[in-house]
Amino acid sequence: MTTHSSETVFSNIFTSNAWGSMESVSGAGSELTNTAQVIRELPHLLRELQVRTFLDVPCGDFNWMQHVDLTGIDYHGADIVDALVERNTDRFARPGRRFSKLNLLSDELPTVDLILCRDCLFHFSHADTFRALHAVVASRSKWLLTTTFTYRSLPRNHDIQTGGWTPINLEMAPFNLPSPRRLIVEGNVTESVIYSSDSGSQKFPQSDRCLGLWLVDDVREMLLRQGR
Ligand SMILES: C[S@@+](CC[C@H](N)C(=O)[O-])C[C@H]1O[C@@H](n2cnc3c(N)ncnc32)[C@H](O)[C@@H]1O
Repeated sequence: MTTHSSETVFSNIFTSNAWGSMESVSGAGSELTNTAQVIRELPHLLRELQVRTFLDVPCGDFNWMQHVDLTGIDYHGADIVDALVERNTDRFARPGRRFSKLNLLSDELPTVDLILCRDCLFHFSHADTFRALHAVVASRSKWLLTTTFTYRSLPRNHDIQTGGWTPINLEMAPFNLPSPRRLIVEGNVTESVIYSSDSGSQKFPQSDRCLGLWLVDDVREMLLRQGR
């Protein structure tokens, strides 16, 4: 998918509130009930890693992040959707907290201590996921914290069209990252995944929806090892 069309896809999702949440245009996964653990755990992790500069790409509508204690951290939220960036800037920008438009698939990312890429790669095709991981590596940032679904016994990593959705486990093919250095288990309580087979459809909770932490060097090595 071209970068232009992915901008159109996600702008249309924003304008039509296609992810259907009444609380957050970023979808149910960004509602406060589903992010309570992250809101609580993230500040501890940032402190432990001595993060001073933090890129949150994509930042979505900043619905839950506004409740994270980011004292002493330079926060940069970025998203591909212009209207979201403008709205976030109007509502939430202040010294030490800014928003800008960035396309993870084509723009140069700033060098920071930690990049958070929550609930994004699972909307990308494999090709675009690798493109995004290359951008992270090229940024020369230190840490990547990103969404991964840790179950191995359920279908993972379908190649989709960018703009769709599929649970991804970054430790499994075709990504094959090493074990994450830390995991924040999000404990999503309202969303489920439906798997269909010959014997019918079954609903599974998303209890393995996590944020995994990798050194950007781990990602670089994985890309080199796989010739990606
Ligand atoms: C499900 S939301 C998650 C937002 C936020 N990370 C959160 O946890 O609430 C996905 C976001 O990814 C953004 N997005 C999609 N493709 C992008 C790209 N190539 N570059 C930057 N942002 C992108 C969308 O506009 C949308 O705001």
